[in-house]
Amino acid sequence: MIDRIHHVGVVVHDADAALGFFRDVMGLAVTEDRVVEEQGVRGVLLQLGENEIELLQPTRNDTGVARFLESRGQTLHHICFNTDDVVGELARLKQAGVELIDQEPRDGLAGRIAFVHPKSAHGVLIEFAQSPAGAHASSAKGFDHLAVSVADYAAAQATWRKVVGLEVKGEVRPEGRGMVIGQMPCGQCVVELLAPTGADSQLAKRIDEQGERASSMVAIEVPDIAAEIARYRAKGITLLDAAPGPLPRSVTSTISPEQGFGLAIQLIQFER
Ligand code: CO
Repeated sequence: MIDRIHHVGVVVHDADAALGFFRDVMGLAVTEDRVVEEQGVRGVLLQLGENEIELLQPTRNDTGVARFLESRGQTLHHICFNTDDVVGELARLKQAGVELIDQEPRDGLAGRIAFVHPKSAHGVLIEFAQSPAGAHASSAKGFDHLAVSVADYAAAQATWRKVVGLEVKGEVRPEGRGMVIGQMPCGQCVVELLAPTGADSQLAKRIDEQGERASSMVAIEVPDIAAEIARYRAKGITLLDAAPGPLPRSVTSTISPEQGFGLAIQLIQFER
């Protein structure tokens, strides 16, 4: 069963430099830091509540991760879902005709892992991980939401149901943004499908240019956004004052991907 997002993977040039942000500025604890020789990466996991951020630094030039970094720059690379049965997930996916990168699970940073081909998931590289027993203790909320941009809302809903078993449970149509947000809960996080509602919307144009893909962003709910903004500014991060976001009764402020080593960090506070 898939019960939560395990981590988002972010490709970076220099994991030590990135730790200067994720560990030293954000204050996240490193739970794993090792070189996986056969994959040609140094991987670093940082805990954020029930989720983690995985930094991937290529250690050779002849790998998919290195080519991805070369062509796309520092950005989100994949989304990983936690399962208690990775073998069972693979059997289910094969049965459903989903194209896989790994036919069999292999050892990765997060445990026994397997990747689904992005062709099968609207441009999003999806990983499944079965972590070793007792590896993850936190039940605190981590990410509030992640977002993936999709051209065809109905087709994307069917895909995410088939591949990950997620269902759209809520919908938001923010005024003037030309899009619908389909909200698929996964653990305490929501995976958002962002779909254009008109061909002339900004989102539609972006999908035309870049294709469907996951946003290189994680949103984190904070109890006092003004205090968080002040805390980050005191550490030399530039971010705007909080302003109303697309979700109802929310204010947000975002640390740019340039400062977040490819990953935008959206701080979000809800009026409860
Ligand atoms: Co991963």
